[in-house]
Amino acid sequence: MGYQRTTMISLQRMLGLLMLILLHGAADEACLPDINHLTLEPPVAVVRHGDPLEVNCSTLFNTHLGMHWVSTEGNTSLEKNSQFVTWNMTVVDWGTQARCNIKLNGSLLCSQDLTLTVYKIPDSVSISVLRHSGPMVEGTEYQLQCDIQNIAPLQNLVVKWYKGNEPLDNVTYSIVSKTPVDVSDTLMISPSRHDDGAQYRCRAQLDLGPEGPQPHPTVTSEPLNITVHYAPEFLPGNDTVEVSAGSDVSLDCSAEGNPPPELRWTNNTAEGNANETTVGRLRTLNISRVTANATYNCTVTNRLGSITKHQNLSTLLYTVSWLLILIFFINQKHMTGMASNSN
Ligand SMILES: *[C@@H]1O[C@H](CO)[C@@H](O)[C@H](O)[C@H]1NC(C)=O
Ligand SMILES: *[C@@H]1O[C@H](CO)[C@@H](O)[C@H](O)[C@H]1NC(C)=O
Ligand SMILES: *[C@@H]1O[C@H](CO)[C@@H](O)[C@H](O)[C@H]1NC(C)=O
Ligand SMILES: *[C@@H]1O[C@H](CO)[C@@H](O)[C@H](O)[C@H]1NC(C)=O
Ligand SMILES: *[C@@H]1O[C@H](CO)[C@@H](O)[C@H](O)[C@H]1NC(C)=O
Ligand SMILES: *[C@@H]1O[C@H](CO)[C@@H](O)[C@H](O)[C@H]1NC(C)=O
Ligand SMILES: *[C@@H]1O[C@H](CO)[C@@H](O)[C@H](O)[C@H]1NC(C)=O
Ligand SMILES: *[C@@H]1O[C@H](CO)[C@@H](O)[C@H](O)[C@H]1NC(C)=O
Ligand SMILES: *[C@@H]1O[C@H](CO)[C@@H](O)[C@H](O)[C@H]1NC(C)=O
Ligand SMILES: *[C@@H]1O[C@H](CO)[C@@H](O)[C@H](O)[C@H]1NC(C)=O
Ligand SMILES: *[C@@H]1O[C@H](CO)[C@@H](O)[C@H](O)[C@H]1NC(C)=O
Ligand SMILES: *[C@@H]1O[C@H](CO)[C@@H](O)[C@H](O)[C@H]1NC(C)=O
Repeated sequence: MGYQRTTMISLQRMLGLLMLILLHGAADEACLPDINHLTLEPPVAVVRHGDPLEVNCSTLFNTHLGMHWVSTEGNTSLEKNSQFVTWNMTVVDWGTQARCNIKLNGSLLCSQDLTLTVYKIPDSVSISVLRHSGPMVEGTEYQLQCDIQNIAPLQNLVVKWYKGNEPLDNVTYSIVSKTPVDVSDTLMISPSRHDDGAQYRCRAQLDLGPEGPQPHPTVTSEPLNITVHYAPEFLPGNDTVEVSAGSDVSLDCSAEGNPPPELRWTNNTAEGNANETTVGRLRTLNISRVTANATYNCTVTNRLGSITKHQNLSTLLYTVSWLLILIFFINQKHMTGMASNSN
């Protein structure tokens, strides 16, 4: 028995080999690429998983021994008296393959393969910050991650990153996967203070070529709002302020920072009457009736740092001096006048 079985298998193999040689030889002999035996319409098909697909295979040969579709989702019946045969299928298999065959005569079978792409729009696309939560700090690196769930095919995926409407990066994949996969892509960012309030988004786009749906199927994540904190910094201003004695002066301690810094004034004088005002980021200390030289320190603080600005108030006595001299002369004149009068 064992011996017989072995022989039978060998015989089957030999037959199969013979048929293969015959088919191959025949194909080499006459299924020339420059002869348009079969035309597929559409020649390249892109179909969403689970959607119906209709492809028409037609021939210019009006006499043949039959044509039909052979596919992993089933075959169509052999058409002997028609110049076309349509393949009408609901594509539920990711690896679907389809080929149209035509038997021209006893020894010649020609075929045309359908180029088929089965795609699936991802179930979800989301963006997150890795290993961090809460406000970011200026100049620190953070990793953003984009999670794309259940997408196919991977080789047609383009992951796009945006900050607001500004494109940051495009990522494509060279790994071929016809079945749905989960994909994660990361982006390093080092935010600056200008990025406070920025919105990052990532987008999964299926670039399926001119035969695919237009515009390209796209799923965009919810925006990721970021808060960027930074240490306080003074806005440009004068360190030394000159003022005439007895007049009013205004000292500037405008600073920026996130969170907005707390402000504290200190001085080394008991004179003058100060009033602190804040208009937006502009913070001023109004001092009325300045009489003495003084140092004013202004300290601004937030959770990332604290800085101090020293402002020297230089009180000039010119006005007072001139006034005194004037009074002195008037007085002198008056006194001399009085003296001459009395004389
Ligand atoms: C298939 O193509 C042939 C040739 O272009 C045309 O005659 C026929 O109507 C088409 N059939 C369908 C179902 O589109
Ligand atoms: C379809 O045809 C091919 C080739 O003729 C054959 O190998 C396959 O078994 C057929 N499939 C079905 C489901 O009939
Ligand atoms: C293909 O199938 C769809 C639904 O499955 C049907 O509406 C359509 O008429 C069919 N087309 C042909 C040519 O059989
Ligand atoms: C089969 O048909 C092809 C193309 O029409 C032709 O070149 C070839 O000679 C034919 N072979 C046979 C055995 O009829
Ligand atoms: C990404 O591709 C789009 C076109 O699809 C292009 O406008 C954009 O400049 C590209 N961005 C980068 C960072 O390459
Ligand atoms: C992000 O910012 C936008 C506009 O500034 C706002 O509508 C949205 O609710 C914010 N999202 C989150 C999660 O804070
Ligand atoms: C600094 O003081 C000078 C001279 O008093 C003045 O011209 C200038 O505008 C001041 N600058 C600022 C930023 O206040
Ligand atoms: C201002 O700051 C300097 C240096 O930090 C300090 O020596 C001085 O005492 C401070 N003056 C006042 C009035 O706070
Ligand atoms: C100087 O600082 C003292 C407290 O240290 C305060 O009472 C006074 O009002 C300040 N004077 C001026 C002119 O800022
Ligand atoms: C500071 O200014 C406010 C509003 O202008 C005023 O009500 C207050 O009396 C002033 N304080 C001093 C000490 O000048
Ligand atoms: C402080 O001084 C500025 C400029 O001198 C003036 O515009 C402002 O009204 C003053 N504020 C107070 C509360 O006196
Ligand atoms: C303040 O200091 C300047 C020199 O730095 C000096 O000329 C002026 O007389 C001083 N004013 C007072 C009121 O002491």
